[in-house]
Amino acid sequence: MRKAAWLLPILLCVTGLAAHAGHDAFLAEHAAQLEKANASVAAAIEQAQADPHYPVYHLRPAAYWNNDPNGPIYFDGRYHMFFQHNPYGEQWGNMSWAHVVSEDLVHWEHWPIALTPNPDSYDKGGIFSGCCVIDGGVPTILYTGVSPEVQCLATSTDGMRTWTKHPANPVIPERPRDGLEGFRDPFVWKEDGGWYMLIGSGIQGVGGAALLYRSRDLIAWEYLHPLCTGFATNWECPLFFPLGGRHVLVVSPHDDVRYAIGNYDRAAHTFAPGAWQRLDIAEGGPFYAPNSMFAPDGRLLLWGWVRGGGGEGHPWNGCLTLPRVLELRGDGTLGIEPAAELAALRGRHWRFEDVELDGRRPFVLEGVEGSALEIAVNIDIGNAERVGLEVRRPAGGKDAVDIAYDNKALRLHAGGHAGAFQVLPGEDGLQLRVFLDQSVVEVYANGRAALTTRVYPDENALGIALYSKGRPARARTVDVWAMGSIWNTRENEQ
Ligand code: FRU
Repeated sequence: MRKAAWLLPILLCVTGLAAHAGHDAFLAEHAAQLEKANASVAAAIEQAQADPHYPVYHLRPAAYWNNDPNGPIYFDGRYHMFFQHNPYGEQWGNMSWAHVVSEDLVHWEHWPIALTPNPDSYDKGGIFSGCCVIDGGVPTILYTGVSPEVQCLATSTDGMRTWTKHPANPVIPERPRDGLEGFRDPFVWKEDGGWYMLIGSGIQGVGGAALLYRSRDLIAWEYLHPLCTGFATNWECPLFFPLGGRHVLVVSPHDDVRYAIGNYDRAAHTFAPGAWQRLDIAEGGPFYAPNSMFAPDGRLLLWGWVRGGGGEGHPWNGCLTLPRVLELRGDGTLGIEPAAELAALRGRHWRFEDVELDGRRPFVLEGVEGSALEIAVNIDIGNAERVGLEVRRPAGGKDAVDIAYDNKALRLHAGGHAGAFQVLPGEDGLQLRVFLDQSVVEVYANGRAALTTRVYPDENALGIALYSKGRPARARTVDVWAMGSIWNTRENEQ
């Protein structure tokens, strides 16, 4: 008995040392895997860049696949964005976190991949989506390790250049109850001195669910209850943030992303959602799994994944939307606009005023062309049935990409996608901002709707025209800017 008493501290010390050595080896293995992953991407950059459909001012890895944006955060003078990335191919797989960094939210550079799976470990099946918070000055990533789905932590002590998986991983090794559909994509925020976390899930027989946890130290987590449940069978990538005195919950339900503005009861930790609505109005569009952050000036910034791109001989697939600023408007609805900083990308400028659209023939903007453009139009619709613009327009005008407001069906169209939208009485006509980036099109309408689509036009289709149908309309102003690249240095030099 006595012998055992003095042996115990020695035993504990020896097992502690062994665990430490084990963790060191684990971290060394991670570093080796990262090196391999970074080399794989570097080897594919030139080929990816050779694709005329490769976007130049939308965030993406330097080559290969990406999906969800993860962990956007501002730290120590820089914006950081991570995203789901396959460093080995243009299809989903080997989920890792790519990392890009910016000082101005506009110009970015690639940093080495932050996290990649450790073979034979709790995250062997992928570093799935998550978030990043600053805990007492320490940048801390929370992600889902697969499989099975468990919640994990990684920290950085060198200004977010490298990331160390925490020895306590997985910090949430088990689901809080039976009958759940999925258990992933932690979203964490600080409230009343503690940490709160949502995990995307679903409760069988109930529907999609955002499960709420609480912690003092980001390591020991206590399950509280579902913050909210609702439609669909599973919610991925929940986001939850205050906006203009209310709260917004965003979920990705394996279908178009939905948000609800509602009331958060901070004492009971429950959320009563208002009506669920599309965050990007495109029905069945390429926008999915957004992520968000507060900028230092308090603006809520949000990026989504834009699916598609690449293909045979073009080793890339996917990018992110532009940073979108969300606001609660005076009438209680959501405002959505591209971040004002993007004006820094504007180069050559063309302007037209008082353009009469005769209801029959398109008005071609002579001498204006490009495949990376911002176009801002303010159109007095009059009694036209439809007004719009054609971009990526070939010489003869056939098969141009149509971006239009249907004033009868009350829908906004861009390329192959459309969604419900109505110019309201009292609004100053139709104000569109179109961001065309090779194969990516984002349309922002009247400061309160965004529609994302993909287009794959002929390389030489570069023209622009405006038109109205049914009756005349008038474009009060048309501004077109050539847009520059967001990459600080040539991507293959990084
Ligand atoms: C959403 C999603 C997430 C998951 C990640 C895996 O697109 O399915 O739920 O964490 O992608 O790449």
